[in-house]
Amino acid sequence: MRAVLYLVRALPGQDLEPLRPWLEVRGGAPAAPARERLVEEARGATILAPTYLDPVDAALLDALPTVRHVASYGVGLNHVDLAACRARGVLVTNTPGVLTDATADHAMALLLAAARRVVEGDRVVRGGAWRELAPGFMLGTQVTGKTLGIVGFGRIGQAVARRALGFEMTVLYSNPRAVAFQGATRAVLDELLAASDFVSLHTPLTPETEDLLSRERIARMRHGVVIVNTARGAVVNDAALAGALASGQVAAAGLDVFRDEPQVPAAYLALPNVVLTPHLGSGSRETRAAMTRLVFEDALRFARGEPPAHPVG
Ligand code: DGY
Repeated sequence: MRAVLYLVRALPGQDLEPLRPWLEVRGGAPAAPARERLVEEARGATILAPTYLDPVDAALLDALPTVRHVASYGVGLNHVDLAACRARGVLVTNTPGVLTDATADHAMALLLAAARRVVEGDRVVRGGAWRELAPGFMLGTQVTGKTLGIVGFGRIGQAVARRALGFEMTVLYSNPRAVAFQGATRAVLDELLAASDFVSLHTPLTPETEDLLSRERIARMRHGVVIVNTARGAVVNDAALAGALASGQVAAAGLDVFRDEPQVPAAYLALPNVVLTPHLGSGSRETRAAMTRLVFEDALRFARGEPPAHPVG
């Protein structure tokens, strides 16, 4: 009998044919079902494939006791209760590496767009409000040669650093451990925040990093700093950031991730100096398809009794 793989939602670029000799695939509707329906549909599955949007907690694992492998689509794991998986002997895998460049590209896109008021400018032109030709009209913040502070210096943080060096930026990073990386200097977080013209967040969401950019820390950042978040929304205190954007303490922000996606705090929606994107960090066709391939690779390995390629913990 083939093992059952349950897809919580359809995955981009999915080719199920190579799985069929080993796995019966269920689920995979365009949207994730509500919890009760999910439990009903996934009953009997051995492998559960959630995305970074789909919570896997102890209650779900208890409702699906046949699940032995959580093959998560994405690199972040804050949606999976890893301790609950460990306690039940459930293997967890994710899809690292393949989304590094796409996410770093997106961080740079947000950084440039926020600094140079690209989206605001687009609105002005489309809205027919471009009447001024004065040299002082709609000035933004220079990027080249400035200091970028990268908070979290794993694969994606380092990929952002490589791009920033191309803009002749001075790169600082804060990270629990030192990283051998030519051209970036390690600093403790508060020093980095005080010294940076741009701050880009690349830390996983854990109890330690929730609200890392707190009201106090934001208040101590350079006046006119630009903040980019492609990590997780809850790393930032939204009320504090919105207040600092309104006062000009923070000149602009580029935000791709939010605490309660797809909800976006109303305060951000009302601010012209925030560029908002709907969790598109890894959202290139190539990358999202590569993530699917990694999920399927580990599902197949599991079904064949082979060691996982991308185990977590
Ligand atoms: C991840 O993989 O955790 C990303 O947030 C997806 O873009």
